[in-house]
Amino acid sequence: MSNEFYAPGEQRAAKVTDLFARIARRYDFLNDLQSFGLHRNWKRRVIELASVTPGCRALDLCCGTGDITFALAKRGAEATGLDFSPQMLEVAAERKAQEPRPKTPSPTFLQGDAQQLPFPEKSFDIVTVGYGLRNLTSWERGVDEMFRVAKPGARLIVLDFGKPANALWRAIYFTHLRISVPLIGLLFCGNAKAYAYILESLKHYPAQLAVAEKMRTLKLTNVRVINLLGGAMAINYGEKPR
Ligand SMILES: C[S@@+](CC[C@H](N)C(=O)[O-])C[C@H]1O[C@@H](n2cnc3c(N)ncnc32)[C@H](O)[C@@H]1O
Repeated sequence: MSNEFYAPGEQRAAKVTDLFARIARRYDFLNDLQSFGLHRNWKRRVIELASVTPGCRALDLCCGTGDITFALAKRGAEATGLDFSPQMLEVAAERKAQEPRPKTPSPTFLQGDAQQLPFPEKSFDIVTVGYGLRNLTSWERGVDEMFRVAKPGARLIVLDFGKPANALWRAIYFTHLRISVPLIGLLFCGNAKAYAYILESLKHYPAQLAVAEKMRTLKLTNVRVINLLGGAMAINYGEKPR
């Protein structure tokens, strides 16, 4: 079944922009609700893998309201969050303004396209993307850009919905995405379709195994897939060769 927020090709970006403009204000709350708060643990895993050292340069793509960007900054990174949704960035800016006098430098937020980054090559020690790659018109282009702006030795980390290898678990999990998640979206955000989009986008995204393959093609080292909840979520990790 098609979804009004999913379109292949050139229309993809406009649809995704519209989607996040509509849900930006409820995004954080709904994230907690639909994942039972677990997304916080998974993002913590991303931050651990990032191995932040004070003053290192970190880029968080598709940063949304900034969960990963703020966490990188709290660990001492000079962190930049990039997203193309003004509404999501507005929430990130409000969160930044409300931070109680941070001990480490606050992150910078920037509007831009993850597929066409406004940075020279070899700029960052860490490049992350959380629940973003799946939303791009070309996820491969997104990984190419991550690779381009990464310094030699940099960590590239992707967190997103995954596709469980076990058929029974996959069926249960897809049913959850088809029924419960849109229902939560309807009840708490007044928009079922925006949340039904998660399953639609996942169907068109080859997920953790293809991302790992792409990382290997780019000759990243230490390529790893960390399956969470039996592969329902996944972290892809790789390092740019020195
Ligand atoms: C599901 S949210 C993830 C937000 C955040 N990373 C998190 O984990 O909570 C996906 C974000 O990707 C952004 N996005 C989608 N396509 C993008 C693109 N081409 N360039 C930059 N941001 C994009 C959306 O605006 C949205 O804020």
